[in-house]
Amino acid sequence: MCGIVGAIADRDVVPVLIDGLKRLEYRGYDSAGIAVIDGDDVRRVRRTGRVAEMENAAAQENFHARLGIGHTRWATHGGVTETNAHPHISFGELAVVHNGIIENHEQQRDRLRAEGYVFESQTDTEVIAHLIHFHQKRGLDLLAAMQTAVRELEGAYAIAVVSKREPGHLVAARMGCPLLVGLGDGENFVASDVSAIVQATRRVIFLDEGDTADVTRESVRIFDASGTPIEREVHVSDVSLASLELGPYRHFMQKEIHEQPRAVADTIEALMDDGKFTAELFGKDAGEVLRDVEGVQILACGTSYYAGLTARYWIEAISGLPCTVEIASEYRYRDVYANPKNLIVTISQSGETLDTMEALKYAKSRGHEKTLSICNVPESAIPRASKLVYYTRAGAEIGVASTKAFTTQLVALFTLTCTLAKLQGRLDGAQELAYIEALRQLPGSVQHALNLEPQIVAWSERFAPKQHALFLGRGVHYPIALEGALKLKEISYIHAEAYPAGELKHGPLALVDEAMPVVVIAPNDALLEKVKSNIQEVRARGGEMFVFTDADSRFGESEQVHVIRTPRHVGVLSPIVHAIPVQLLAYHAALARGTDVDKPRNLAKSVTVE
Ligand code: F6R
Repeated sequence: MCGIVGAIADRDVVPVLIDGLKRLEYRGYDSAGIAVIDGDDVRRVRRTGRVAEMENAAAQENFHARLGIGHTRWATHGGVTETNAHPHISFGELAVVHNGIIENHEQQRDRLRAEGYVFESQTDTEVIAHLIHFHQKRGLDLLAAMQTAVRELEGAYAIAVVSKREPGHLVAARMGCPLLVGLGDGENFVASDVSAIVQATRRVIFLDEGDTADVTRESVRIFDASGTPIEREVHVSDVSLASLELGPYRHFMQKEIHEQPRAVADTIEALMDDGKFTAELFGKDAGEVLRDVEGVQILACGTSYYAGLTARYWIEAISGLPCTVEIASEYRYRDVYANPKNLIVTISQSGETLDTMEALKYAKSRGHEKTLSICNVPESAIPRASKLVYYTRAGAEIGVASTKAFTTQLVALFTLTCTLAKLQGRLDGAQELAYIEALRQLPGSVQHALNLEPQIVAWSERFAPKQHALFLGRGVHYPIALEGALKLKEISYIHAEAYPAGELKHGPLALVDEAMPVVVIAPNDALLEKVKSNIQEVRARGGEMFVFTDADSRFGESEQVHVIRTPRHVGVLSPIVHAIPVQLLAYHAALARGTDVDKPRNLAKSVTVE
């Protein structure tokens, strides 16, 4: 979603801002802009569409400055227009960029109108610009004006502000949306995401909820929510530049699909070093938290939710603990049953998803203290609000469609399952060794699944002209069918639904005819024979089936039934391996349809609004 970058330096910051915005493009956006303080002027350039268009305009208008802010906007309040794009300027004096949503913007707008302020956009952000200006006019300096203004705002925000009255300062504030300060040498930065400034510095301070910051070329002062100066820890980011570059690949999604053997191996590195499941994998005090857990409640959205659904099969079968999985945006508005002995597990690639964050806060407000975050972005909001953390080590995921984050989440959840099982006394030494060995073999099995790509390309050509598709799975492979359908619809725009295969005859069978491709995830497990009889129902109605199975399944092919086999059966970890072919199918179908694979329409990478 929206992205922020700001810089104050003794060099031209315009290339820093543009480069930062390009690195934020992956989050999804529909317009971009920068504002700079140039002598006595606040200059601004904004464009709908790509950052590159805004960059050309800035070059034509000869933009150069030592202080500036930039933004990529994903429209919420007000349509996709240049007037609604950020930065917003008040009285030609100060400029603001903003992520988040101001809930009381209507009241503030009325109040400011009464003070003579005129609004040119439909955004809530323009309210912030005028409000800060209003306080500045009353005699406050820029920092104090911003601090006073944010106390009057309700909602979520990360903001960065520059003013021509104080050209030596870049001020920023955070509440509910991530924001960090980057520390350079004689120059400093602000950004919503470390990838925006990683070329300039890796030394960062993550602002806390309610923090404000006063950033000059030589200094950074941070204040907590009460306005008291506070020291915050300096982190050295390990985001790799390579993970932000496309390299030889055509799309980030393709690159990230192919990175999965490495991502899986990295995610279990500490486990492999130990050679056993230990609570400490989840944090220093995890033994204490996990020991007397009575059940597991998983909360997540989208693909991360499907990872949770998969884990439920493992957790109940292997650890014997009851497990429920709920979409975070539903949980947060329900009068939920709360057992404080249950472990709340949030799953989020970005660690920023607002619904998941709010569901976690809600669970805590209902007395849940045992909280674990499975997350891919270090120091992001959700792990910071959780007692325990397991970081997946997928590396930066840039493609909007989640791929390597999903498989590494599954690996983390399987590790959690075995750890809980051990603490429950349900995992003997031999079984533990067997699971560790299965995990050790997993990167190789994932690579074997990737090697199926040429066969999947051939299938995808048959998919490209279709309007609809049905995905079927059973048991632990049903969530993989859900994930396959989600991947296909979000990047190829083919309408796809997923069902447990046994549910077919209760309704969806009515959809099956020659025009409906049916994808079946059917590895050799206890439900294979059931799936085989379910697909006879499809066959009898003329449906064309595309079956992903494994070497042991003895699945017969025919004109109507196409089969691709993963080379080995990997037992309990089979859903992880079967996630790969459905990702590849969606990717190649989208490619054949010519969609914007990495930035599908209407979608954003990190969903930081409700
Ligand atoms: C789908 C996808 C989304 C995310 C969802 C949650 O490919 O990427 O469904 O999984 O928005 O995002 P995180 O995991 O960042 O909380």
